[in-house]
Amino acid sequence: MSDRKKSLITYINPNSLIAEQYRTIRANIQFSSVEKKFRSIAVTSPGFGEGKSTTVSNLAISMAQQGEKILLIDADVRNPTIHTAFNLNNDVGLTNVLIGTSSVNDAVYQTEIGRLGVLTSGPTPPNPAELIGSEAMRNLIKKALADYDLVLFDCPSVLEAADTKILANECDGVILVVSSGKTDKEKALEANRVLTMARATLLGVILNDKK
Ligand SMILES: Nc1ncnc2c1ncn2[C@@H]1O[C@H](COP(=O)(O)OP(=O)(O)OP(=O)(O)O)[C@@H](O)[C@H]1O
Ligand SMILES: [Mg+2]
Repeated sequence: MSDRKKSLITYINPNSLIAEQYRTIRANIQFSSVEKKFRSIAVTSPGFGEGKSTTVSNLAISMAQQGEKILLIDADVRNPTIHTAFNLNNDVGLTNVLIGTSSVNDAVYQTEIGRLGVLTSGPTPPNPAELIGSEAMRNLIKKALADYDLVLFDCPSVLEAADTKILANECDGVILVVSSGKTDKEKALEANRVLTMARATLLGVILNDKK
């Protein structure tokens, strides 16, 4: 299987065991939402390559397959990959919306997967943390929440990028992806501490296994 097919397994093979596992995670998020509705969720991890983008893409697909109107946003503007996974052009995206050269509606791609919209990162700016932490970002989240049931962010590593802490704080909840065999325990605990200090609400930890 190509990398693209592998990474969007929930779309390519909705009957697979892996897709079923994403549905379980989806259900767990929905159960946590009983008291308070979590409508904006940031997905991050302690380090690099632990499965953030794969996890958030499959969760977005799984939720869209259930009929919800979902917006997936690539907020990893230094190292964006969502456009590659979904085979989309990345000339215009989040960063253009934030600097005001495009509207959200013009920049979002409506996919063929239910009502899943994807906002790719757009060009990498010189000041990612500043842009992600801007008033424009808060406005974008507000606008997105008016149009979508749920907004999911693919974020950079929380220990490597200041912008993740800002976004985690802006979102209703955060999901931490850790990689079995790769993430060390200290790093996972440190990520938890950093998120707590940023006053983010940790919804849960997903243990990703690439085997
Ligand atoms: N559960 C999995 N099964 C198989 N392959 C996986 C799994 N999770 C991730 N991968 C693969 O591992 C690589 C890294 O995954 P991914 O891009 O999702 O991580 P990331 O945390 O977003 O990385 P980065 O820190 O670079 O943004 C990709 O090639 C992806 O296809
Ligand atoms: Mg990634």
